[in-house]
Amino acid sequence: EDIPVITIDGPTASGKGTLADETAKALGFAVLDSGALYRVTGLAARRAGLNLDDGHAVAAIVPTLKLGFRDGHVFLGEEDVSARLRAEATGLLASQVAVHPPVRQALHDLQLSFRRLPGLVADGRDMGTALFPGADLKVFLTASAATRAERRHKQLISKGISANITSLREDLEARDERDKNRSASPLEPAQDALLLDNSDLSIEESVTQVLDWWQQRR
Ligand code: C5P
Repeated sequence: EDIPVITIDGPTASGKGTLADETAKALGFAVLDSGALYRVTGLAARRAGLNLDDGHAVAAIVPTLKLGFRDGHVFLGEEDVSARLRAEATGLLASQVAVHPPVRQALHDLQLSFRRLPGLVADGRDMGTALFPGADLKVFLTASAATRAERRHKQLISKGISANITSLREDLEARDERDKNRSASPLEPAQDALLLDNSDLSIEESVTQVLDWWQQRR
């Protein structure tokens, strides 16, 4: 348990993934993208034709998934599902299955298994509250809904995917509502989390802030 952990929680499209990756790179730490686990579970449940409101049925497929994590890519069996996982539609599936306590329980140990030396940066919704309550540094990352929708829009356009900024914003606000209002591990800052609003910060400035906090903690 003396393997250091930095948690980064926050709403959809707040930049958690990028901040986690860059912070981990700077420190040589491993990364846990916990959202990817909920996404792959939602995708597999949908493909299996399961009722996504049936938490026990969805949880039951988790141990059967042949998940692989290589070079930042996620594999389901032999299939590289990384691109599919990033789709907005998969994010919505993820937030539907994530409300169920049995699903969260089924993913619990798998998430803890990412903790290894020399340290871990874990990003998600409940990393600092439920998974790693004893983390050395907890960051709660926010940005305005307008900023987040704009960033997501740019990201999609740069990949050649057309998107409507108004509907993107509606989708991410709907997902945030579901994540905040569920009873199982709702999205909320841990009591000892440091708040970072990156609406007006560059990625570099956000990373520098987290690394400064990390230095102060040591
Ligand atoms: O972070 P990301 O957008 O990939 O997460 C997708 C969805 O998975 C979230 O909207 C949330 O419902 C769920 N999730 C969660 N707990 C986590 C990470 C993600 O409930 N630790």
